Amino acid sequence: MCGIVGHLGPMGSVDIVLEGLKRLEYRGYDSSGVSFINENGIINTFKKEGKLENLVQLLEDKDTASMISIGHTRWATHGGVNDTNSHPHSIENLSMVHNGIIENADILREGLIKEGYTFKSETDSEVFLIMVHSLMKSMPLGEAILKGFSQISGNSAFVFIHGEEKEIYAIRKSAPLVCGTHSANSHALVSSDAYALVGVADRIYFPEDNVLCHLSGKNKELISFYDTDGRPSKRYTSKVQSTQIDPSDKGDYEHFMLKEINEQSGLVRSLCQYYFEGDGSTFLNDIGKLRPSKFHISACGTAYYAGLVVKNFIEGINRIPCSTELASEFRYRNPIVNDGEVGLFISQSGETADTLACQEECVKLGVKTLSLVNVEGSSLYRGCDHNLLIRAGMEIGVASTKAFTQMGLTGRLLSFALNEKYTDKEARRELAAKVSLLADRMDEVLGRESEIKAIAEEIYNKKGYFFTGRNIYFPIALEGALKLKEIAYVHAEGYASGELKHGPIALIDEEMVNIAIVGPELKDKTVSNIQEIKARKGIIVSIGPEDDKNLKKMSDYFIGLNFDGLEELSPLYVNLVNQLLSYYMAKFKGTDIDKPRNLAKSVTVE
Ligand code: AGP
Repeated sequence: MCGIVGHLGPMGSVDIVLEGLKRLEYRGYDSSGVSFINENGIINTFKKEGKLENLVQLLEDKDTASMISIGHTRWATHGGVNDTNSHPHSIENLSMVHNGIIENADILREGLIKEGYTFKSETDSEVFLIMVHSLMKSMPLGEAILKGFSQISGNSAFVFIHGEEKEIYAIRKSAPLVCGTHSANSHALVSSDAYALVGVADRIYFPEDNVLCHLSGKNKELISFYDTDGRPSKRYTSKVQSTQIDPSDKGDYEHFMLKEINEQSGLVRSLCQYYFEGDGSTFLNDIGKLRPSKFHISACGTAYYAGLVVKNFIEGINRIPCSTELASEFRYRNPIVNDGEVGLFISQSGETADTLACQEECVKLGVKTLSLVNVEGSSLYRGCDHNLLIRAGMEIGVASTKAFTQMGLTGRLLSFALNEKYTDKEARRELAAKVSLLADRMDEVLGRESEIKAIAEEIYNKKGYFFTGRNIYFPIALEGALKLKEIAYVHAEGYASGELKHGPIALIDEEMVNIAIVGPELKDKTVSNIQEIKARKGIIVSIGPEDDKNLKKMSDYFIGLNFDGLEELSPLYVNLVNQLLSYYMAKFKGTDIDKPRNLAKSVTVE
């Protein structure tokens, strides 16, 4: 999705904005641009199709000295990928960037053309710029933005700079927008992602929808907020932000994705500690008091597959029914949601448009809403009645790894909290010990990277891949296939082991690979499914109990695991093998693993 960064403060504003845009590259984009006000109050705008590096090169011989600038990385929605459609869009001494979609842009554009305006780009974004320019003929910029904003429909965030005023205005509706300040150093910033403000701002602000954010060096606080009536607004929250962390450091890893895969065992341990012994225990307590008759779980992509894992925990342990649906389907199918049921939304970013729409749907239907979310202060976090943070830390790799594991484990802790045994110290100790065992087993798998890499090297160039698994491993087959698709750009499907014979087995030949998850449960049935594939010359990579000699013998490649003691947590253990397998297959294919083509880290549009 599009990335927005705005800054005002000491000289060097353009460098700060470019650094912020670099931090947002992981979100996926296809062009970038920057506008800055020079010392004569003139706005200069430079923008370029392609990677951010193209913009940096364009600026190399330019005088970019400025104290106020805005920048943008565009993920094309309306209008093709080219320099003209890139943001910022400017007219005279006004410049603007946009993230989101203006659903009524065409009709608004017609009215502005009748007023005598012409448009340079094909974008919907430019319509809002021209609208505000037109409104400024009869009112100040801030009022013009509020008035114009009330006339557009769709989810959007806009950031403006104005040459004369030398100030920044920003506003959002159901699109990510955060502000930041470092009052000691006189910096004020705005972005679509708090991650861009790390290292510059020491306080982060989270404005609600339709709140006008005004960043100004003339204001001691550097930032003020206004409601649609123009009065000062209280509709924002803020928190202190450490300026120390530098998450842009990959450490010894070649890719963020590999770094994040390796962080998982430590994150698993600390998550359990947080909710059992730390500050999180109060949240778990509160949510444990919810006694829903049913959960409606909705999410997208990897988060949806994590939702299937969570469903298995809650239905298996608490015997509470869970309907788990793709958010893009749930939101439009007039779902049957009754009193006493709870909407459960799972999201790493907390900004996924389809998931947010499901949360809004459940609020309209009058039920309580609960999120498993990674980004505190995100739209989903602020919209839900209750939240359980998955505490995965910043996930930079577009292909989600550690967030999946943390979503699943947070779901397991939720199911524990819903259980009457929640206060039973022995039950709590037992679960904590199982989680610690999971972390230990994950460390063991992480120590076998070279073994998994060697298998990846053997199979990365085949025609297609079936990930299969039964029961609690079926979601892991689905997630494994998505990971491989996302980063290796190969066709892969996740299937229930027992389902291949109902058609897909027609695809099996010596160029097709079956990555078969064979858990201790239902092993014999799963092995017979593998035999059906082997009989048709499919290549078998099995992930199963390390002491199963028969399975090893019948497999072309075998990754033996120790499932003992993990029980319901073992899907999260097996998933780590799939993450490493996909990572190394992608590495052999030479793809852009952290920023795969066509993908965005957070899909904030439908
Ligand atoms: C996961 O690898 C993908 N990048 C994608 O499917 C992602 O899980 C999905 O877009 C949901 O994102 P969210 O967790 O931020 O809501």
